[in-house]
Amino acid sequence: MINEPNSTFASGPSIKIDGETIFFSEGETIYEVAKRLQKNIPTLCYDERLEAFGGCRLCVVSVEGIRNPVASCTTKATDGMVVQTAPPEIEKMRRTLLELVSSENRDTQPNPLSGFASQELSALVNKYGARNGRFQGAKSGTSNFKDANPFILRDYEQCISCYRCVRVCAEQEGDYAISVANRGFKTQITTEFDHDLRDSDCTFCGQCVQTCPTGALADKKALRSAELPEEIKKTRTVCPYCAVGCSIDLMTKGNKIVGAQPAMKGPANKGALCIKGQFTFDFIQHEDRLKKPLIKQADGTFKEVEWDEALKAAAKGFARAKAKYGRHSVYGIASGRAPHEAAYTMQKFIRAGFGTHHIDNCSRA
Ligand code: SF4
Ligand code: SF4
Ligand code: FES
Repeated sequence: MINEPNSTFASGPSIKIDGETIFFSEGETIYEVAKRLQKNIPTLCYDERLEAFGGCRLCVVSVEGIRNPVASCTTKATDGMVVQTAPPEIEKMRRTLLELVSSENRDTQPNPLSGFASQELSALVNKYGARNGRFQGAKSGTSNFKDANPFILRDYEQCISCYRCVRVCAEQEGDYAISVANRGFKTQITTEFDHDLRDSDCTFCGQCVQTCPTGALADKKALRSAELPEEIKKTRTVCPYCAVGCSIDLMTKGNKIVGAQPAMKGPANKGALCIKGQFTFDFIQHEDRLKKPLIKQADGTFKEVEWDEALKAAAKGFARAKAKYGRHSVYGIASGRAPHEAAYTMQKFIRAGFGTHHIDNCSRA
């Protein structure tokens, strides 16, 4: 069968994957071509936003004419290649690899609140029936629970040295806040001089947490709600903090927002968030949050009122100020979180309503 997934690849070099012929474009890896064919090759060190690393070897496939299996995420497709993605010997190799990796890890079933990709290893261990603890001996990674930062748990006994955290920090965030020290069983994800994250270049964007496939890096704030009995529900929405419009999944248990995860396919952010979108959602359910308008009374106290009464009082106040000090005494500041329609209405309100150009938004003011 000839596969023609779209006109871009309807001619040119081709490879055969599990008996199906597919065209590819120069530079594509076997993994990328196989993905277009809906082949589910397992990966652990792969994140499609990052340069392929080739560290875990879980994505190995068999290529005709090549004696050893090759990593499909780093091997470029070449014309005429014949590839098998899941012959029994490869599947067995993957299972053994997973047993090696999971034998190192204290907990192969982390809480899903840990991070977006935190279930990747556990899902593969379950799928392949890999035995945890089959291989005994030295283990790498020492957890750093002393790091007092309020956001990121650093539980490196769960680390499988995929380096996704280090690479996302460098390649996506451009921060280079974390790196890899030592090699082999002494491998350790660390900061410069092994200081706390707060003393590093970390901006607490959370991307390392969300790409970690084992929960070794985890969302401390979300995990505080791990014991709540309700199911985790994810609701796709847009981060309200600024005008970029990052897609975000708010995680709730019952009526409580317990965490946030970036939408990996979000058109504006593609899995990225900043510290505010990632970790600072507490204001939504904070007890000090105003839920109704307040009017200041003559004695200086505030009285809670309905919106109609509040709007009338505000209109009177504006009219008083304009009558006494002129139209330029009024100055409007629109919210940078507001959508276009609301921003337009605000400038119309100030310009047409009061006859002044004194209008700005909080991103500049
Ligand atoms: S939170 Fe962001 S900046 Fe900090 S270490 Fe992780 S990826 Fe780097
Ligand atoms: S902390 Fe997580 S993302 Fe980083 S190397 Fe270890 S397993 Fe991979
Ligand atoms: S996913 Fe290819 S080597 Fe890890």
